[in-house]
Amino acid sequence: MASKVVLVVPYLLLVMSSCMVLCWGGNFNQDFQITWGDGRAKILNNGNLLTLSLDKASGSGFQSINEYLFGKIDMQLKLVPGNSAGTVTAYYLSSKGATWDEIDFEFLGNLSGDPYILHTNVFSQGKGNREQQFYLWFDPTADFHTYSILWNPQRIVFSVDGTPIREFKNMESAGVPFPKNQPMRIYSSLWNADDWATRGGLVKTDWSKAPFIASYRNFNAENSCVSKGGRSSCKNNSRNAGWQSQELDSTGLQRLRWVQKNYMIYNYCTDKKRFPQGLPIECTRS
Ligand SMILES: *[C@@H]1O[C@H](CO)[C@@H](O)[C@H](O)[C@H]1NC(C)=O
Ligand SMILES: *[C@@H]1O[C@H](CO)[C@@H](O)[C@H](O)[C@H]1NC(C)=O
Repeated sequence: MASKVVLVVPYLLLVMSSCMVLCWGGNFNQDFQITWGDGRAKILNNGNLLTLSLDKASGSGFQSINEYLFGKIDMQLKLVPGNSAGTVTAYYLSSKGATWDEIDFEFLGNLSGDPYILHTNVFSQGKGNREQQFYLWFDPTADFHTYSILWNPQRIVFSVDGTPIREFKNMESAGVPFPKNQPMRIYSSLWNADDWATRGGLVKTDWSKAPFIASYRNFNAENSCVSKGGRSSCKNNSRNAGWQSQELDSTGLQRLRWVQKNYMIYNYCTDKKRFPQGLPIECTRS
């Protein structure tokens, strides 16, 4: 009896301490469920890695168990390498219903050596049409990079490896709806979109290169409000305690301008042809 206790206690300590290191970043088994793809999506390494795969017959996808109403949500992605033309990896937050809210990252694949496009959009109450697109300053297929969404009542900030690339401010006072009442789940999918994704649909998916695989790790929603049955409970982690009112500081603003100047390839806010009646209000007031 006594010897058993002696053995069990250090073992528990070992499990607990390794969990503090490994479990801190969230666990795919705990936080997500695979929703489609008939075995093409896999949770590996005790929940620390998730892979999606796409072949000619089907893509695959997953969603979060929790619904969030605000949060600072990080995920590391490593995108489909090599010839990924025609493939799209979507990673986004979305609520349900006809007047849904949505915050989108979408990665449009390309031929080997040609740049991915990072496509972003914000929907509020079912209305999107707010696309901004970027090239990245690194090869997103060579390694994992962190893609983050800060969503609080004042703003939505999209970041890549901690560098803000886009800010969508709450401009309700000017009549622009802002996502703030509908809890959202996190979704991701890998699918074939060769009718539009690469060079506007000119380059088709090369199925001889299938299966195409995208990987995910280090999910982190330590700073977030989880919504359950109409009630929301929030967590602040000491590293980022102010997230609920966080805004871009001067370094952040500088980085944002650097990205927008050097890497932005499309901005709905400057597309006058598309909005002959005048640019959307949020574009003219910021
Ligand atoms: C793919 O590469 C071409 C040529 O460099 C480029 O014009 C295009 O923006 C790239 N990305 C996509 C998704 O088409
Ligand atoms: C988290 O911080 C916010 C202020 O940033 C505060 O209003 C809130 O009560 C805190 N919540 C918890 C659970 O500590």
